[in-house]
This record gives sequence, structure tokens and C-alpha cells, in this order.
Amino acid sequence: MTASGESDPITVQTIRARKGGAPLVCLTAYGATMARLLDPHVDLILVGDSLGILLYGQTSTLGVTLEQMIVHGAAVQRGTARACVIVDLPFGSYQESPQQAFRNAARVMAETGCTGVKLEGGREMAETIAFLTARGIPVLGHVGLMPQMVNVLGGFVSQGGDAAGAAAILEDAKAVAEAGAFAVVVEGTSEAVARQVTAEIPIPTIGIGASAACDGQILVTDELLGLAGDWSSGFAKRFADLGPAVEEAVAAYAGEVRDRRFPAAEGDV
Ligand code: KIV
Repeated sequence: MTASGESDPITVQTIRARKGGAPLVCLTAYGATMARLLDPHVDLILVGDSLGILLYGQTSTLGVTLEQMIVHGAAVQRGTARACVIVDLPFGSYQESPQQAFRNAARVMAETGCTGVKLEGGREMAETIAFLTARGIPVLGHVGLMPQMVNVLGGFVSQGGDAAGAAAILEDAKAVAEAGAFAVVVEGTSEAVARQVTAEIPIPTIGIGASAACDGQILVTDELLGLAGDWSSGFAKRFADLGPAVEEAVAAYAGEVRDRRFPAAEGDV
């Protein structure tokens, strides 16, 4: 038994069955070492396309490639024994057609060993989600603030602020659920919207910047740990501040190398 209370590998059925139950704990990881650290504590590990920003120093997720997602997805899966690993489909790899989405999602599944994929979009992606799930690919939806739409939205701005926007998020979440997604990420919206969406759809909502009214929460792990540098989603609570600890350790190493104190002379301890 692990900290999350689940001893067997967590499947999408396990996650789907947690609707309205114990909150789902989800985090991102981009490599095997971090995945190993998260695995005993979380239900779901997302290999998020946020890696474009956090690992590759890009200003948005738009430049992330399928190959990058596969390399990092495989590493995370190797470091995971029980959490459900889901890999983001990057921008441009699924929006063209259900067939394009299937081809790329199947490659991600085959080459990483992950359990399923996440894609952004509501009503406009319902046909694609149905196409994938009918063909053996579990899908985690993503509605509300969709980072791959940054240029259409004019920035990373909260969604659902007026009645029309709130209704649009609800319709999107319903469409994603009806299409067969096992859960849906709800990003960047108000508690009122998150509460209504959570009450009205039969699958778990996983919130990020969407209040505690959701069935679970996800954060970007680097941000939670204080390792995201100047970048901020604007949503995260920092649970640790590891940046200064890293700098301190590196400075100590640099000092010892420069003073010829490291490595110790043979025979010294
Ligand atoms: O890319 C990502 O890390 C994400 C989560 C923040 C939901 O999509």
C-alpha cells in the first residue's frame, strides 16, 4: 500500500471510478528520476507539453514535438511502477483529423508504454476523442484555459468569466465526457464554473487554477518545488523552494573544485 492508498497499478478505470470520491492527486514529470519520486504519492503522472517551457526554455508549448513527448514519455514510464502515466499530444499532432490523432497517439502509446494521452479541446475535439477511445486509446480531456490556444486567446488568460464563457466550458466538458474521455483537466476558471462542471459531468474533473471544487488537482511539479525559475502558471502553491538549495550545492561544489578540495586526496575520507 502506498501513500495514496492504492497498491495495484492505477488504471483509467480506477481514476474514472474516483468521481466524487477521494480527490485525485496528479502531477507532471518529464523524466524517470522525478517519476520515481512522485510514483508512491500520486494517482496520475502527466508528461505535460509544459516540458517545452520548463525543460527546453521555450515561451509556450507550441514548439513541442511528438518526438520530444515520446522520449520523455518513455523515460517517465520507466520510472513509474503504479501511477497512471498519461502523455500530452503536442500542438499540431492531433487537430487535423481523427485519423492523424489516432496515428500519433498510437505511436505515443506504443513507443512509451503509457496508459493514455491528453489532448486539449472541447466540442471541436469530441469526434476525435470518440475515434480514439473506440480504438483502444484512453483520452484525458482538457478544457477551459488551453495553453495550445495561447495565440487565439491573446495570452494565458482565465476563462469562463462571463455567462457565455461559463456556458462554453460546461458544454465543452459535457462533449468531452460524452465522447468517452475518462477524466478531464479543467484549467484556469472560477470556482463557480468548476463546481457546476464537476456536478454536471459523469467523469472526474482535475483542476489546475480551477478551485477545490474539482474531483482532483494537478500542478506542474517544477513549480510546486520552486524549480521553475521566473516562469509561473499563476495557479501553483509553492510547496518547497529548491532553487536556492540547488544553487547552494552547486556553489559549494564549484568552490571545492577550485580550491582542489574535491575530490579528496587518495587515502583521505
Ligand atoms: O502541460 C502540462 O503540464 C499540462 C498541465 C499543467 C495540466 O497540461
